[in-house]
Amino acid sequence: MDKIMKYLCALLDWIDARFPLTKLWNEHLAKYYAPKNFNFWYFFGSLALLVLVIQIVTGIWLTMNYKPSAEDAFASVEYIMRDVEWGWWMRYMHSTGSSAFFIVIYLHMFRALLYGSFKKPRELLWLTGMFIYLTLMGEAFFGYLLPWGQMSYWGAQVIISLFGAIPVIGDSLALWIRGDYVVSDVTLNRFFSFHVIAMPLVLLGLVFVHILALHEVGSNNPDGVEIKKKKDEHGIPLDGIPFHPYYTVKDIVGVVVFLIFFSMVVFYNPEMGGYFLEHNNFIPADPLKTPEHIAPVWYFTPYYAILRAIPSQVAGVFAMGLAVMLFFFLPWLDRSPVKSIRYRGWKYRLALTAFTISFLALGWLGMQVAIPTYTWLARVFSVIYFMFFVFMPFYTSTDNDKPVPERVRYP
Ligand code: HEM
Repeated sequence: MDKIMKYLCALLDWIDARFPLTKLWNEHLAKYYAPKNFNFWYFFGSLALLVLVIQIVTGIWLTMNYKPSAEDAFASVEYIMRDVEWGWWMRYMHSTGSSAFFIVIYLHMFRALLYGSFKKPRELLWLTGMFIYLTLMGEAFFGYLLPWGQMSYWGAQVIISLFGAIPVIGDSLALWIRGDYVVSDVTLNRFFSFHVIAMPLVLLGLVFVHILALHEVGSNNPDGVEIKKKKDEHGIPLDGIPFHPYYTVKDIVGVVVFLIFFSMVVFYNPEMGGYFLEHNNFIPADPLKTPEHIAPVWYFTPYYAILRAIPSQVAGVFAMGLAVMLFFFLPWLDRSPVKSIRYRGWKYRLALTAFTISFLALGWLGMQVAIPTYTWLARVFSVIYFMFFVFMPFYTSTDNDKPVPERVRYP
């Protein structure tokens, strides 16, 4: 045993002389000090990493049998589902994975709103996160066309034609994206290329930068106290614990719980009542037959509801774009000296609650057929949605925040 250890240590020394393995391990895991008061909200970063890996691995296997052509795409997905060994499993993992990705990401982002994690010094961390969010939306949109079902086809048709609403360049832009006058084989081919290589590459690059930015400034925590301000004589934060083994072990608990829920969906309810896989998408794309009710997958519906709430299409497209873009400005819109919701006053608490309810309500409304009552409700919730951002500098700078403790509260 001793001999084996000796050889392993020698091997490590050999590697370390040529590549900073031990240095990286220490800097990012064993001697990376994270606040000791993380709660369950801090599971979602590592879960996002896990889902990213699931999507890439299952995506590689799906690509082995998928055919990116208007002629064969739908049939090749059916072939994967019925004839390829374990093909159904890869497909359901991938389709459930895309919804799981957005659930995890929305909770991950909501945690930042709860604890003010986007505030100084984490502005760049937040911005890299926002670029990830945009890329993820692109990735999901491109991927949705690939099964070439009715919803794939008409969803893409509707969304691409929205670009046509942009003044002057709109029509040429829509034509340029489609590569044809309607969504066609040409469109499918380019979406395939974006979905399997361009977007994943960008996503991986951005996630790498995201983690680098995180490790530069260090994690925030549920108290919003900067642990780097109070260090012991060795320069170690008093409220910090080494990421490994403490949080690697804690994250495994999160992974196990997540996989239980994930497996329940994959094995018992992969369509999730039409929310994860829409019924209309089990019908092959028919360019001559528009489905009665076209709605995007649930993770886009809050924005879709905003689009539909506005009568003018140009204004609707603008409002929808703005609804996403406003998140980028949060670090500068929020003027409170306090980060965590625990020490914020009633104004931010009320605003965040109203915003969250609006986001969820818009998500629900975006899935419904737009009867007049729903359109009006969508208008009300859209106004609340935008008020959250527009009035933020005012209500955060005049809030009755509470004093923040010097050290984190634990437990
Ligand atoms: C593929 C997607 C993503 C991955 C893999 C990822 C990964 C991570 C990880 C591992 C952490 C540290 C653990 C944690 O705090 O939960 C983290 C922190 C953070 N992420 Fe992400 N992230 C992703 C997307 C996003 C998005 C879309 C945003 C926001 C728009 C975002 C904003 C943040 C912020 C602000 C923190 C610091 C939170 C704190 O310290 O309180 N991330 N991310």
